[in-house]
Amino acid sequence: MNPIPPIARERLPALLAAMPKAELHIHIEGSLEPELIFALAQRNGVALPYAGVEELRRAYAFSNLQSFLDIYYAGASVLLQAQDFYDMAWAYLQRAAAENVLRAEIFFDPQTHTARGVAMETVISGLHRACVDAKQLGVDAELILCFLRHLSEEDAFRTFEQALPYRDKFIGVGLDSSELGHPPEKFARVFAQCRRHGLHLVAHAGEEGPPAYVWAALDVLKVERIDHGVQSAKDPALMKRLAQDRIPLTVCPLSNLKLCVFPDLAQHNLRELLDGGLLATVNSDDPAYFGGYLNENFVQTFAATGLDAQHAYRLARNSFEGSFADGSAKQSYVERVDATFAAFA
Ligand code: ADE
Ligand code: ZN
Repeated sequence: MNPIPPIARERLPALLAAMPKAELHIHIEGSLEPELIFALAQRNGVALPYAGVEELRRAYAFSNLQSFLDIYYAGASVLLQAQDFYDMAWAYLQRAAAENVLRAEIFFDPQTHTARGVAMETVISGLHRACVDAKQLGVDAELILCFLRHLSEEDAFRTFEQALPYRDKFIGVGLDSSELGHPPEKFARVFAQCRRHGLHLVAHAGEEGPPAYVWAALDVLKVERIDHGVQSAKDPALMKRLAQDRIPLTVCPLSNLKLCVFPDLAQHNLRELLDGGLLATVNSDDPAYFGGYLNENFVQTFAATGLDAQHAYRLARNSFEGSFADGSAKQSYVERVDATFAAFA
C-alpha cells in the first residue's frame, strides 16, 4: 500500500494500537508479572527474598543487562508445574490478543528450569498447550527455544537432546542471556546441529555487544534474524549487509531504555535503522520488567522520536515479513495491515 494517507499525530496512538502486528522478541519468562510471581510462589511453596509485589517492583531499577538478568532468573524460580508455564503464557497471549498481535514467536529458556530439576516435558507441554489454545484468541503462537550463552556449549547440547522428543512443539532456537564475553562462536557446533534438524535460527547480538558479534551470528551461526542488533549502526559495512540480505532486527526500545543501552528514548536509533533500509521491527523483550507490552513500546517510541504513520506501516509489515509464518499466511497478514491503514485514512 503506497502511499500511506496522512494521519494526524493525535490519532497515531490509536493507529499503533489497532494495527495488526507480529511480536518476534518476547521472553515468556519476562512476561511474568509480580502479582503472578507471588501467586505462583504461594501455590508452590517457594520462598522469595521480597516481602511483596511492591517491594519486588521497586527492585526493577536496572543499570545494564546483567543487573536485570539476576532478578529475571530469580522471578522464574516460582515456575514448577506445567500449569504454571501454561498460566504464564496464557496471561501473555490474552494481552497480545488485546493489542492486535496476530502472531507471536515466543522465546523460552529451558535451562533456567531444568537446572532447578523441572523436566523439559513440564516446560514445553505447559507452554505448548497455551500456544494451541491461543488460536481461540486469534493469535498464531509458536515457540523458540533459547540457549543461555553464559552456560557452556556442552550444556546447550544436552538441553537440545532433552528437547528433541518435543521437536514438533518449537520452530526454532535462539541465544540469549549475558552477551558480553560470550560471543556467538561459542555455540557454532550446537547451532550447526540445530540447523541440520531444520530449525529456524536466531540469536541476540549487538544489544550491548559489538558489531563483531552480529557478524558472527550471521556468518558463523547462520541465523536468519538478529535479536536487538542496535549496535550494528556503529558499522556501516554491517548496516549494508543487513539491508542487502533483508535480515530482520527485532528491536526492543523500552528494554534498551531500561537497560541503559540508550540514555533516553529520543536518542534511540530505530529511525536510523529504518532509514538505512533495514527490516527493523518493534518488540517488548521482557514486558513485565521494562514497563510496557508491545503497544506501549510503539506509542512511547513514536512519541519520543517523531516517527509517523508511514513508519508505523513499515514496522507492521516488517513484523510479518520478518516472521517465520509461511508465505500465504504472510500475505493475508499484510492484507489485514493494509485494510486497517485504509480504514484510518
Ligand atoms: N533474556 C531475557 N531478556 C534478555 C535480553 N534482553 N538480553 C539477553 N537475554 C535476555
Ligand atoms: Zn531478548
